[in-house]
Amino acid sequence: MEIRRVAASIGAEISDVAICDTGSLDLAALRQAWLDHGVLLFRGQYMTPTALAHFSACFGELEPPPASEAGTREELGGQPVWYISNVVENGKQIGSLGAGEAEWHTDMSYIAEPPTASVLFAQEVPPSGGNTSFSDMEAALDRLDDDLRAQIEGRSVHHDSSTTSVGDTRRGYDGVQDVRTAPGISHPAVRTHPETGRRSLYLGRRRNTYIEGLDLAESEALLDRLWEHCRNPDFAWTHVWQAGDVVMWDNRRMIHRRDPFDPNSRRIMLRTQLRGDRPS
Ligand code: OGA
Ligand code: MN
Repeated sequence: MEIRRVAASIGAEISDVAICDTGSLDLAALRQAWLDHGVLLFRGQYMTPTALAHFSACFGELEPPPASEAGTREELGGQPVWYISNVVENGKQIGSLGAGEAEWHTDMSYIAEPPTASVLFAQEVPPSGGNTSFSDMEAALDRLDDDLRAQIEGRSVHHDSSTTSVGDTRRGYDGVQDVRTAPGISHPAVRTHPETGRRSLYLGRRRNTYIEGLDLAESEALLDRLWEHCRNPDFAWTHVWQAGDVVMWDNRRMIHRRDPFDPNSRRIMLRTQLRGDRPS
């Protein structure tokens, strides 16, 4: 097994492994690499839904698919695996997020115990577009200027649960009229990683968030400034997918976004997620 950094401060490609053969893996070394680099990339993998579930379960407890994303394809057979896809079969989308742009976000920050890790396996990729970028919110906190840091330290951010990262309203929800009363939950704006002890910004995503205790206009202005800082490419790495890639990120530390792609092309990703704990 070889570990090679893919960007200045985040991301590593692990080569010379077949991750479907979990018995052959040095799990302690992989876990350490994941904690050190924030995102791991494995190329040239062949993963069935079952194999992806088994590999993911080496790093924690699998979370069942969110109700709104339960797959319709039989091969999933009720396993804790689902699709991120724009493909429509028998008049139904087989997965979520379609072909649009997904804004910078961390996964499911709107629940009490957001996932520790998310894993994507590329089954089919479009000829272009649909790249996924990751950005390190530890570096973002480190590089935050003192004025902004003083304004956000000790604050809580309210995360809206009704809207997806591509801006769609989830089934069973109404659109958000007022971000202060949107359904969801609040978490500290700065969190400490439970395994590494390092601190990071934890803002969820820009759309429909609110900084508790501020006037709406103040919250909007502060979020705009914070997000402008978080979008600095210095903290980021962009992954251009090939079929057979598996990417696993630390969802406590990293944010990610996805470029849109041609809706007439096909993109099929298998997805798992590991149960997390309450950010503090
Ligand atoms: C996700 C996600 C982006 C992508 O699965 O959580 O944001 O590249 N996916 O499909
Ligand atoms: Mn996501």
